[in-house]
This record gives sequence, C-alpha cells and structure tokens, in this order.
Amino acid sequence: MKECFFKQATQTSVMHNFVDAFTSGCTRCTLSDSDNLPIIYKGNPESDILLIGEAPGKVEQEEGIPFVGPAGQLLEKIMTAIDIDIQKDMCISNCVYCRPVDFSNSNKQNYTPKEDQLVACYPFVENLIRIVKPKVIIACGRIALQQLTKDNSTKISTLEGKWTSYTKVNERNIDQEIPMFVMVHPAAILYIKENDKQIEKKKQVWTYMKEFRDSWKGKRKC
Ligand code: URA
Repeated sequence: MKECFFKQATQTSVMHNFVDAFTSGCTRCTLSDSDNLPIIYKGNPESDILLIGEAPGKVEQEEGIPFVGPAGQLLEKIMTAIDIDIQKDMCISNCVYCRPVDFSNSNKQNYTPKEDQLVACYPFVENLIRIVKPKVIIACGRIALQQLTKDNSTKISTLEGKWTSYTKVNERNIDQEIPMFVMVHPAAILYIKENDKQIEKKKQVWTYMKEFRDSWKGKRKC
C-alpha cells in the first residue's frame, strides 16, 4: 500500500513539472501563438485510465482545460453512465496541446491537426504516457488512434469498440504493450438525435463503453 502511495505521489509531482515546462509556451510548430497556449491535461495523473483525444477546441482554449466544450460534455456523460468519474478515475489529454485554428481567418474555425503539428507534439504525448503509467489507454477518435498506433492507415471503423495495444518503449529501451481501447470521438456523434437514422451508431457507443468498463475492472492497478 505504502509503495503504491509513493508511486502515485511521484506521478503527480512529475506531471506538475511537465506542465510547468510549458508555461512560457512552446514554439515547436505553427500553432504556437501567445493567444494559443498549450493545454495539457485534466483529471487525475495517478489514475489507471489515460484518454487521448485530438486537439483542444474553442471552449478548451478559452478555459485552458481539455474536453470542456460540447464534445467534452458528451464524453463526461458517457463516462458517468459507466460509473467512471472523469476527474478521479481518468487522466485526459490530446494529440496536440494547442488549438488548431487559423487566427488570420475571421471566423476562426478549428481544423484537424496537420501532420507537422502532430509530429511536433508526439514526443510530449509519449512523455505524458510515461508519467501517468496508465493501465489502459483510450484512443478517442481517428486521429488519436492513428497517432498511437503510429500508422496513418489504421481504420477506426475496424477498431472502434475494440481492444488493441499501444507500444511504449520503456527506460531500458524495451517495448512494453499497454492495452488500448478505441472509442469514437464524441464530436462525431454529438448531433445525432433520437429520430436520426444514425441513432443505432450512438447506442452502440454506450454498449461498447459498458463492455470497456467491465474489462477495465479486470486490468486495474493497486
Ligand atoms: N476534442 C478533443 O479532441 N479534445 C478536446 O480537448 C476537446 C475536443
């Protein structure tokens, strides 16, 4: 028990140092802008579950916290339905830490992160995984799945609702597999209404997330 407590305390403090390193911003990619500061994570860095999404959006940028806009609210609803508290039981982050937005465009629309932006942020994502040491990872959406499998041809349609694995290179340069569950990005089902043709797709998410919850319980740490 004591050993577990020590390990957890260390994870939190290392995470604080990790976040502090971004306080003056990051200039590794074209998203760097003083109005677009990196948003690293929310939730509990000591938890078993690490969810990786795509990128912060407008509300996330305004609040400086990932997954707080409409997609984040739906994610919370899904997790609550399977008895997972997103602040306590999960740590939540993204493939890129800054909002992919064109500041020169007056309507400031979000876009899917570009390859160079994903590549620039990926070492930080890997580092975050090393710090959190999750028992399971949730790849949330296509971009997260392709980043975490390091393969842009990976199809979410074949892996959604299923387990695969993330390969982490440990301190001794040895590959370690972390079980990885694949879920739809909540933004993709956000606007499906009860009488919509696609409602079955939305219902399936609840079904496979319940299955996720049951199998995750068998993978919990101390
Ligand atoms: N979508 C994401 O992928 N990440 C966020 O933080 C918000 C919306």
